Amino acid sequence: MPERQQFFLTTPIFYVNDAPHIGHAYTEVAADVLARWHRQAGDDTWFLTGTDEHGQKILRTATANGVAPKEWADRLVESAWKPLLDTIDISNDDFIRTTDARHEEGVAKFLQKLYDDGHVYAGEFEALYCVGCEEFKPKSEIVDGEGAFEGEKVCAIHSKPLELLQEKNYFFKMSAFQDRLLALYEERPDFVQPASARNEVVAFVQQGLEDLSISRTSFDWGIPIPWDSSHVTYVWFDALLNYVTATGYGSNAEEFARRWPANHIVGKDILRFHAVIWPAMLMAAGLEVPEHVFAHGWLLVGGEKMSKSKLTGIAPNEITDTFGSDAFRYYFMRAISFGHDGSFSWEDLSARYQAELANGFGNLASRVLAMNAKYFDGVVPEASAGAEQPADIAIRELAESVARRADEKIDAFAIHEAIAAIWELVDALNGYVQEQQPWSLAKDPEQRPRLAAVLYTATEGLRALAELLSPVIPVAAAKLWTALGAEAVLGALADQPIREAGSWGRLPAGTAQQRLDVLFPRIETESK
Ligand code: ME8
Ligand code: MG
Repeated sequence: MPERQQFFLTTPIFYVNDAPHIGHAYTEVAADVLARWHRQAGDDTWFLTGTDEHGQKILRTATANGVAPKEWADRLVESAWKPLLDTIDISNDDFIRTTDARHEEGVAKFLQKLYDDGHVYAGEFEALYCVGCEEFKPKSEIVDGEGAFEGEKVCAIHSKPLELLQEKNYFFKMSAFQDRLLALYEERPDFVQPASARNEVVAFVQQGLEDLSISRTSFDWGIPIPWDSSHVTYVWFDALLNYVTATGYGSNAEEFARRWPANHIVGKDILRFHAVIWPAMLMAAGLEVPEHVFAHGWLLVGGEKMSKSKLTGIAPNEITDTFGSDAFRYYFMRAISFGHDGSFSWEDLSARYQAELANGFGNLASRVLAMNAKYFDGVVPEASAGAEQPADIAIRELAESVARRADEKIDAFAIHEAIAAIWELVDALNGYVQEQQPWSLAKDPEQRPRLAAVLYTATEGLRALAELLSPVIPVAAAKLWTALGAEAVLGALADQPIREAGSWGRLPAGTAQQRLDVLFPRIETESK
């Protein structure tokens, strides 16, 4: 058996200071589409997500709500973050919390190793800190406040005043890794993606790297520094390590060797942490750096990043309650080019739902299955050998090309382009049915072989579409798969080899089909 390709995919672990909004759901869906695709391709896939629970931001929120930080985190994880995964059909293999024992133990081991190997020293520090970012801000992200914060220095991302912190900290000698990082970006140009993100990271590191403060003493909600319990670990140093503590670092060498290195999907707000600090930490520990770091853009509201702290968040279920989880997934993956910013609008969502999902894909599926039912007693018709016409060949060849191109695009993290490629087949099949007019062929008994050939082609097209769209719209694809009768002859949809979706003739003639419920029902949207 050929060795299966390893594919370990992560999302950021999200702060539990508040409930998720569609920005977090966006990252989850993108990662989920990639994970489902790779899993269906037979790759040895592992998809990790989770929550970031230490640090000042969580401590302050918990305190303001009159509860202990762990109790607050438990409440948010159970009432909001885990339920999000159901709301949008996320197929994660693991969920890590930074308060898990496996994580706290792994972090302590990692820190002790860096300390023993001479990568850590004690020092004094004074700088401007953003609690929203949980970061000492570089000059480039410090701006003058406006309105209520006139005269103060604020964070460019959160627009909230920065706090001057002065403490005795432990430092990680990150500056020592500047040259190795620059060499990494040079040797592996796709290490950071997209190219705009790579350029930003290279420019940042070229300016010169400072050492990183990795401990705090003014509060105690964090993982104690193993050799000095009067300090807790800096929340980002703790959080980044989730990717290895969840996969066996320090506890299960076999599992770790199997999973690591990872592909990290993050928002561009946290690019530097993943593309600079994190690989430097790994280099210091003698571990492999990630395979890829992909930074996607922001969902914008009024031209600004949608955010919890600015109260501009839209809850994912506001969308899924009306449109369903498939539409949510399809819309954000299709309408926003992955790696760029995008604005959400109800009008655009409704328009695409109606035109692309309901009229484009849903209608095609119901029409073809209805004609098979009407003209061939609900079984896949037999296309007689040698009767293939140019229009049929064009569909068959397009399916093959679409499947190949979509796989290449997924491999390059270009999710929107993969879906656009698949949609060429949706559109071509609609055009094909329109041109071939099976309902007219059905009126002439002599055209019965041609009618069979046309409906066979259309049905095979649907079979390919169900396989290719399953990672994006898993609910609708599964309904179609069942209605096609494919489950009984080919097995579960999730087990279909997606890289072979374009090979023709997989659904045998004679397969008994079932009624298909409307995939994307009409929605009354006047209330929105
Ligand atoms: O930064 N548009 O957590 P966080 C798109 N705990 N994506 C968005 C978004 C928006 N408007 N808003 C948030 C943290 N996101 C750390 C991460 S990882 C070791 C630690 C998504 O709760 C996007 O993925 O602030 C962004 O990077 C992430 O949420 C930040 O989530
Ligand atoms: Mg944030």
